[in-house]
Amino acid sequence: MVADRNEPVEITLKCPAKINLFLEVGQKREDGYHEILTIFQTIDLYDELILHPGVPTGYFRSNIDLAWNGSNTLYKAVKAVEKHLGKELALGMELKKKIPAGGGLGGGSSDAAALLRYLGETFHIEREALFEVACSIGSDVPFFLRGGTAIGTGRGEVLTFPGDLEDYSVDLCFPGIGVSTPLAYTLLGRSADGHELGNKEVEKLLSALRERDLTLIGRLSKNDFEGPVFAMFPEIGRAYDKFKEKREAIATRMTGSGSTLFSLFEGTEGEYRFITSTDE
Ligand code: C5P
Repeated sequence: MVADRNEPVEITLKCPAKINLFLEVGQKREDGYHEILTIFQTIDLYDELILHPGVPTGYFRSNIDLAWNGSNTLYKAVKAVEKHLGKELALGMELKKKIPAGGGLGGGSSDAAALLRYLGETFHIEREALFEVACSIGSDVPFFLRGGTAIGTGRGEVLTFPGDLEDYSVDLCFPGIGVSTPLAYTLLGRSADGHELGNKEVEKLLSALRERDLTLIGRLSKNDFEGPVFAMFPEIGRAYDKFKEKREAIATRMTGSGSTLFSLFEGTEGEYRFITSTDE
């Protein structure tokens, strides 16, 4: 993957979206983040990131309105890696965005993680250092360094990989409203004490997913953000009711802090299939 300096090359990276099959929010921590318990799953909806090694950094094109500054996770990734390496990079980029921004599908985090994987390989950055850089960009970025199926705890960066789930798919529905993640956490009103997280439920849900106990999957899948987000944005709640009615699914949930909704199906009935950590 290392670019030959004399030849203009173009490298295309695929950056998958994720859904949360389970998402509980626990106590608020002193650092302002919340403890969470989640099951992350990558799906085959991708952003495409085209890299132009040798082209000055700052050459950045996108099919959405996205500036080259600290609000852009790719910019953050470049700056963090430059700091780690102690040198400036020359890396132009084009981002073909297909994952809706601000929709709870992790698009920005996935874009950054794909770039970090490339830079990690190119500059031989150690795994631990790359993980630290990923954490500094966002809570979901470490998950995307690997993808597939993962249980996330801490602020989402403490990961275990119980084995990738396969042969499931989802339909997605974008209610067309972006929900700010910090706002969604505030709406939950969690304090610093209490609020048990359902570790047993996660294990049961994973077993149900493996054993294809569809009723149990429907019962155990959850997202703590749904209640408060639907209350604050009734149009998302209405979109949920309509989407759920449209096609009978194993479960219909919101992903992350919203507003994207997904319906879960067995096999390839849905529009986007689950992908494993080795699919890319
Ligand atoms: O880590 P990330 O940049 O995605 O987080 C955005 C914001 O969401 C944080 O600044 C914080 O307000 C909130 N957050 C949280 N607990 C988490 C993850 C995010 O409170 N586990």
